[in-house]
Amino acid sequence: MSDVAKRNAAEAALKLVEPDMVLGLGTGSTAAIFVRLLAEKVSQGLKIIGTPTSEATDKLARSLGIKIVSPDELTRIDLTIDGADEFDPDLNLIKGGGAALLREKIIAEASDRMVVITDPTKQVDALGQFPLPIEINAFGSELTRHRIHNRLADVGLGDAPSSWRMATGESLLHTDGGHLILDLACGRIADPKALAALLDDLPGVVEHGLFIGYADQVIVGETSGARIVNPRRG
Ligand code: 5RP
Repeated sequence: MSDVAKRNAAEAALKLVEPDMVLGLGTGSTAAIFVRLLAEKVSQGLKIIGTPTSEATDKLARSLGIKIVSPDELTRIDLTIDGADEFDPDLNLIKGGGAALLREKIIAEASDRMVVITDPTKQVDALGQFPLPIEINAFGSELTRHRIHNRLADVGLGDAPSSWRMATGESLLHTDGGHLILDLACGRIADPKALAALLDDLPGVVEHGLFIGYADQVIVGETSGARIVNPRRG
């Protein structure tokens, strides 16, 4: 999908930003477009504070002149704008395509509001076409993988293949927090909440990319303009 759609989503999200807000700044190509647009507003006099969801976003935002503070200096965040790899009609998300899911979830959870910006390719009837990223502690990582697969049959995903995410070359990717990413090719996830609960229950799983009930709204950029998706009622 072209950057035009991503930019239209980011532009629509920018309209939600008010002076003196504390903003969570997401990670990925769509979030980076938002950060660039935000920086233009800051250079024109808008006063906001940003807190980043990754080292990459931290670096980008600082380089563009956005005031960045560590989350440790905050007790709450007004609004987080972030991308997603998939969203369903309830606005449950898969995130972590950029390996930043742990920090993204910490910041989203502490935010009064989370607005997701995407292009139309991320909208799905059911999550799971995008492999689910699971952040795993390096200690006993193969054992943890084994434990995950032992439990997957309970949620109808007994056959789901998994693979360790690689960095460049043959080395494993390490997240900003030094953990590994296991990508789980689920296929259709019938019950995202049950899968999230299963993963939350395993000690070696640091975090997973299922964001259940985090997003308040999704802004879908189109080739012309953007549309708002609210969670389905009931
Ligand atoms: C990073 C993420 C990203 O928000 C997600 O991968 C979407 O990225 P993009 O906007 O580049 O499609 O979750 O961990």
